[in-house]
Amino acid sequence: MPYQDLRAFLTALKNAGELVEIARPVSPKYDIAKALAKTSAIQGPALMFTQTGTAFPLVGGVYGNRRLALMAFEATEQTIHEKVLKGINNPIAPVDFKGAPPCQDVVLTDDAIDVTKLPVPIYSPKDGGPYITAGIVVSENPETGIPDIGNYRFQIHGPKELGVFSAPNHRFGKNIAHATEMGKELRGAIVIGVDPLTMYSGQVQSSDSTNDWFTSGGLRGSPVELAKAVTNDMKVPAWAEIVIEFTVDTRTQKMEGPLGEYTGYYTPASPKPVARITAITHRKNAIFQGLLTGKPITENHVLKQIPFETSILRQLQAQFPTITDVSINSSGGVQIYVVIAMKPRYEGEARHAILAAMAGNLHPKWVIVVDPDIDIRNSAEVEWAQSFRVKPSQDVFIVDRTATAPLDPYTDGGYSSSVGIDATRPFGEEFPDVSEVPDWKDFPLPELDGLSRK
Ligand SMILES: Cc1cc2nc3c(=O)[nH]c(=O)nc-3n(C[C@H](O)[C@H](O)[C@H](O)COP(=O)(O)O)c2cc1C
Repeated sequence: MPYQDLRAFLTALKNAGELVEIARPVSPKYDIAKALAKTSAIQGPALMFTQTGTAFPLVGGVYGNRRLALMAFEATEQTIHEKVLKGINNPIAPVDFKGAPPCQDVVLTDDAIDVTKLPVPIYSPKDGGPYITAGIVVSENPETGIPDIGNYRFQIHGPKELGVFSAPNHRFGKNIAHATEMGKELRGAIVIGVDPLTMYSGQVQSSDSTNDWFTSGGLRGSPVELAKAVTNDMKVPAWAEIVIEFTVDTRTQKMEGPLGEYTGYYTPASPKPVARITAITHRKNAIFQGLLTGKPITENHVLKQIPFETSILRQLQAQFPTITDVSINSSGGVQIYVVIAMKPRYEGEARHAILAAMAGNLHPKWVIVVDPDIDIRNSAEVEWAQSFRVKPSQDVFIVDRTATAPLDPYTDGGYSSSVGIDATRPFGEEFPDVSEVPDWKDFPLPELDGLSRK
């Protein structure tokens, strides 16, 4: 059975020595961020802060490193992509929660709404204010009603008001634009503290017609239990710790930002719509969740990498079945730098695969295709392919005026450009054999046992 809720996963982390309690008082202004940065730097455990100066404890670092990610998926490096692929390919419909949902143990509406009572951290010194970074947003296409979930940042403007940022190519942003066009207000909910696979499912790249709850169910291998929100008709995960229901007001624009973002740079402040909070509901003894974002590698990158790699691999393989693997590394924010392993079937196919990846929703700046003998998660191997399997004048090309990756600090407004590198061996031509000592791995050499200096 999958973890039913965040609490079940925290218990598993604690039992494995992967959750450490910090029982002394901490300030949401930098203490929490510093502690999360520190545990992230040592690939350490998740941290539970019990003295936050509010009524709520805060847990952070739950998605802090690859080891914790594999625990969340109950997978190993060998099984992870197959497991995620199986989940995406076998969606499971959500079910309605029977009875009173735990996420609505406490319901706060009207004058009782005050989001500043939550321990929302400030992460980086130049941030415009406290930010909710670990929330998944539920919103619906205003015409079809198809629900979407994804992570989105929210700045605290006041007790009942939040700043909203969604890139125009993300579904929450598309839903806001669509509703505005129809003269409607978009309703939504920020869901904080869910079971880990529901959280990861928000990062699976799928078509706009996908009902994301089905993907969550598929990844979990069991349906997500949903409950009706209090002030709108949307459904939210019944076992969530905290739910903030809102409507987006696009007529009122307020300065949102800066925020130290996944690119490793601050995104400047600019006028953006506001979310007006219509209700806050939470469980008894609710746990708030923090999530570190900023210069790679942070939780933001860990959370994206597994779902992005598997779903982009799946999308590309539909057209190019000889693609064997895709790596979207953290240094490029899990977005800008994509490496594809592929055995081209005809001349020029590698270039087409590059163009398809460039045209996908990640908007990468670098797409490199290598032969399947290259370990695409080893940058030295990729550099080796680029060094000796590339004639720059014919294998490297630039596509100009591509749409920029959201928040890339160095672009021409909404436009960018993308570099394609075909680092596969020249198609159909003789190419030198790789010179490698054969079978050295199996050569018995007990004198070296235990002497690895890696
Ligand atoms: C921690 C975290 C925070 C994110 N914040 C934002 C954000 O504020 N705005 C945005 O457009 N995308 C943000 N993203 C990226 C989207 O959540 C992600 O691309 C998602 O797949 C969008 O999916 P959708 O288009 O199906 O909603 C964030 C991702 C993570 C992991």
